[in-house]
Amino acid sequence: MTHKLALIGFGNVGQGFAEILRDKKEFLYETEELTTKIVAIADINKGSIYHPDGLDISTVLDVLEGTGTIENYPACEGLMTGWNSLKTIQETNADTIIEVSFTDVNTGQPAIDYCKAAFNSGKNVVMTNKGPVALAFKELMELARRKGVYWGFEGTVMSGTPALRMPVTTLAGNEITEIRGILNGTTNYILTKMEEDGISFKEALKQAQELGYAEADPTNDIEGYDARYKIVILANYLMGANLNVKDVICKGITNLTLKEIETAKMERKRWKLLAKATKRGEQICASIAPEKVELLDPLASISGAVNAVTYECDLLGPVTLSGAGAGKRETGFSLLIDLISIHRQTLSNHNR
Ligand code: HSE
Repeated sequence: MTHKLALIGFGNVGQGFAEILRDKKEFLYETEELTTKIVAIADINKGSIYHPDGLDISTVLDVLEGTGTIENYPACEGLMTGWNSLKTIQETNADTIIEVSFTDVNTGQPAIDYCKAAFNSGKNVVMTNKGPVALAFKELMELARRKGVYWGFEGTVMSGTPALRMPVTTLAGNEITEIRGILNGTTNYILTKMEEDGISFKEALKQAQELGYAEADPTNDIEGYDARYKIVILANYLMGANLNVKDVICKGITNLTLKEIETAKMERKRWKLLAKATKRGEQICASIAPEKVELLDPLASISGAVNAVTYECDLLGPVTLSGAGAGKRETGFSLLIDLISIHRQTLSNHNR
């Protein structure tokens, strides 16, 4: 079976994903028997195209690079242009929606409505948008289950590093009693640079922006809001919590001084912006705050834009996972692994 995909949004991550599908086409077939077709792409700035038989990825990328809009894709019979995101979700022949559009971080919209429209049309969704997962997890998960479709969101926490998939698969059977993580690359980069190079917060933030780690509005990174979304996703998905983003105590790193960073060094400690979720009895509390971490703690050695998370497991003890937290290919991969999961499920249902 060929998976037919519609991409909602075609920024860095969407393009990264398309490139992976193009570049690894043979490998994915040989190793997973996975075949895909991108049938539609809808992007608010770059235009919208749909062909029920599939689009040529290289042509789409070339046309976009050359003209700034995908609507200059060579005209051919059956090609449709100008469909908006909702129409693309509801009316194309895609079976899986790759949702990588811009999300309002306060409301999670329009991506929440896109997910609902897809589920109600019997379509799977895989996404990297944190908003819907952090703000409407229960409602969307229930709807996806009711409609018998797959909802994948590996890329919302630590990009393609399996922060969600590893605990639910290979740590299954453990109760996770605490999650502690460095879930934001920008702030970890800033703290690393302040400590290692002695540069100011402002200078380090400028570098993080130039390197493309920071969100469009870096307030979300430096004030801890991005990490707060991620800890809510982890706690709700992995610990069965029912946390609201607004209930999570959140303190960023804007007030940390070079002097405090130097002092921690002398104490054989290191400042990290820690995202934590802790189970006490039936209660789960979460917080985001800078903390001085002992150098022996695995999280202390995580430097630069790398992310890491420690799961405290009742059977296995602490398990720490580290890896990329952002990036075009790394986040593109998160969409691929969700798609591979859909494919494996389809195959196993088929073989039953
Ligand atoms: N701005 C985020 C970070 C990108 O710095 O980690 C990934 O969510």
